[in-house]
Amino acid sequence: MASIDPNLFSLLKFPKNESDVFYTGRLPWLFKDVDYYKTYWHNKKNEFLNFHKTSSQNIDAELKSKKLFSVTTRQRLEVLKKAHDANYLTLSNLLQSLQAAAANPFEVSVPSHQSLHLYRKNIFRDWGWETSENRQAVELLTEVIGVNWTPSRVCVLGSGASRLAMDLHKEFRVPMTVAVDFNPLLLLVAEEMLSGATISLWDFNVAPVELSSVTQEYKLRSELGSLEGFHLVCADVTELPFKEHQFDAVVTPWLIDILPFNFKLLAQRVNSQLDIGGQWINFGPLGFSNRNESENLTRTELTEQMQDCGFEVESEKITSIRYLTAKNEVNSRNETVYLFKARKIKHATVEPYSFLPEWLSDTSKSIPLSDDIKRHQQLVRFQADLFHSIDGKLSANQLAQLFAQHYKMPPETALVMVVNVLRQLEESLKRK
Ligand SMILES: C[S@@+](CC[C@H](N)C(=O)[O-])C[C@H]1O[C@@H](n2cnc3c(N)ncnc32)[C@H](O)[C@@H]1O
Repeated sequence: MASIDPNLFSLLKFPKNESDVFYTGRLPWLFKDVDYYKTYWHNKKNEFLNFHKTSSQNIDAELKSKKLFSVTTRQRLEVLKKAHDANYLTLSNLLQSLQAAAANPFEVSVPSHQSLHLYRKNIFRDWGWETSENRQAVELLTEVIGVNWTPSRVCVLGSGASRLAMDLHKEFRVPMTVAVDFNPLLLLVAEEMLSGATISLWDFNVAPVELSSVTQEYKLRSELGSLEGFHLVCADVTELPFKEHQFDAVVTPWLIDILPFNFKLLAQRVNSQLDIGGQWINFGPLGFSNRNESENLTRTELTEQMQDCGFEVESEKITSIRYLTAKNEVNSRNETVYLFKARKIKHATVEPYSFLPEWLSDTSKSIPLSDDIKRHQQLVRFQADLFHSIDGKLSANQLAQLFAQHYKMPPETALVMVVNVLRQLEESLKRK
């Protein structure tokens, strides 16, 4: 039976009782309402495993079909099937403790694009590829925090597969580090690495040129040895489980621009984790992509907002780096990253945040008829009418005539709309 380390438990504001902590393996899940997250990630696990299963089945069907393949094509399909089958088994094993909650929760505050495999390349970068990126990250951070960085308790938010968190813990002999992420796959891999295990996982290349680079098996393992005082925690950055002012330093690697809320709300939460004099250390790009342009901040605006939230920037660095670079990796990127070390000079109030509107989490509330919903209504009504009108006889031209009369629009506009909707469907059926 897993149990929570007393030093870690003493930092928590929830859950109140040790017996209420839910675990996957040895990994504690520290959410205000853990059931929401259990069901969310359980559904994502099924999606992910299903992807490998159906990919393997589709390849198998192609192999057994009457199509004539060259020897090379057959080899490629066979190696792909082998990789999907192997990953299915490895991941089923790794994720077996992810079970859905009994109740059906609607209040999940995880954006639905967050899948278990969204950051799978980071797993390979952290623990499989031969790359200098992990070392480079520590060196860049050292330039900003200094070689004599001696915090006694560090919290790493959005730690992912957690290589950087572990490297910093070891390099700077940090007595206690708590690495936080809400993606259980990344943390379960990190947990295995901490325990000295080896995981075999296949990496798929999206644009292979050679047969040998279609997919490759990596042995994921850590050379860091056991790390006394290092803790992995499954928790949400938007609602952290720690009491106030428990850490001397909070590190945010590649996190600030991908959160579902604006930067100020993050700054307030980081502030609440630190005491006066505590440090906020950041590393990553400023790739904000909020619908409200005012929230897509540049460096100067970021420092302005940090000041408002009780921080003073002490040192900073802007540099260009290669990201997710490995042999055969076509998705590697050039990124301009902003590193800073900021000191907390005053407390800030933490504004509450909820990801979804109340009428979605409380399903008894009326749904407001907003302009966005009205626009969507028009679109789906058109699409529904169109698909219901297809009877195997009518052409796109004939459908457009009917729609032009029904929706009182010019026939040319109706034809463009009909063709676009049908094209989208046909195109989506061709993609993987
Ligand atoms: C771009 S990745 C960076 C991961 C890691 N820091 C690295 O550099 O490889 C962002 C990470 O933040 C995590 N994350 C995003 N939103 C989060 C949230 N609300 N709470 C906890 N973790 C979150 C993701 O699961 C992911 O691991």
